[in-house]
Amino acid sequence: MTEMALPKLFDRAAGAEPHAYRTSLCGEDILSVDQFDREKLWYIFSRAHEMREVVEDSGGADLLKGRVLTCLFYEPSTRTSASFIAAMERLGGSVIPITQGVQFSSVSKGESLPDTIRTLEQYSDVIVLRHPEIGAAKVAADYASIPVINAGDGAGEHPTQALLDLFTIQEELKAIDGLQIAMVGDLRFGRTVHSLTKLLSQYKVTLRFISPDILRLPLSLMNQLRDQGMDVREGHEVGEVIETADVLYVTRIQKERFTDMAQYEEVKDLYEITPELMKRAKPKMVVMHPLPRVGEIHYSVDADPRAAYFRQVKNGMYIRMALLAAVLGRA
Ligand code: NCD
Repeated sequence: MTEMALPKLFDRAAGAEPHAYRTSLCGEDILSVDQFDREKLWYIFSRAHEMREVVEDSGGADLLKGRVLTCLFYEPSTRTSASFIAAMERLGGSVIPITQGVQFSSVSKGESLPDTIRTLEQYSDVIVLRHPEIGAAKVAADYASIPVINAGDGAGEHPTQALLDLFTIQEELKAIDGLQIAMVGDLRFGRTVHSLTKLLSQYKVTLRFISPDILRLPLSLMNQLRDQGMDVREGHEVGEVIETADVLYVTRIQKERFTDMAQYEEVKDLYEITPELMKRAKPKMVVMHPLPRVGEIHYSVDADPRAAYFRQVKNGMYIRMALLAAVLGRA
């Protein structure tokens, strides 16, 4: 994992007033889940509920008419880019999509991230950025005078995914406190795991982490959870948690983050959720996955009512509608 090392023109955080709670996220960047306390989460979730009603009643609204979103993706994406585009369009706004291969933009001519950002902000009101390097969204936000939303910075964070994941847990099980949440797969490079774990640490939950040794949750994050006195345990087998978990959060092994492909080959097929395994799970257990899946959940699990991953996808659009409205001050 490398830190993004680019010169900074100015640091908006420096000298800024302490992060006071505001109901409105107007004008704010969304860089990390650390920005969200339970009150802010509650606010976004309530707005997401309203967005669902609006979409179900009339397909959308004109809340963001005249506003422009730039989607700038330096890494592949299906759900995150499509849901941001759908969210913006359902609220009457429009999109500059630089999602189908940044190689066709001036990035391929060697343009730096700061210059790309300072160009795109001339045309738009908000930028959603996915980039392979940890810290890239923060660098972009330091240069931009409009809100920047982190849609994944390498193996760092993926805050909007974590918001929709937490929202899905709340929607499926009508509670978060008191649950046992088990995360399975690539806990080292899986940015969705990092962000969701941090959000969950604000709740009274027990956390179980199932991975091969080389893909354990980063030690700094594990220590943070332990320092907070949370009930956390690590293991290697899904069988250790299948009977007790309320949520099974399954993830893909992040092939693109490996430098040693032999290591990837050793761990790539370790986990598969099957109907046989599901028979041992609680009747109200929920299976989630940020997707894409590449073999971790057998297709025959999809028919199980506990398989929530496509409902999770839809929730992503409502959460992103709520976030766009909030950062653009139309809350
Ligand atoms: C995830 C990501 O990009 O981090 N996908 C997503 O945004 N839904 C998970 C992954 O790629 O494995």
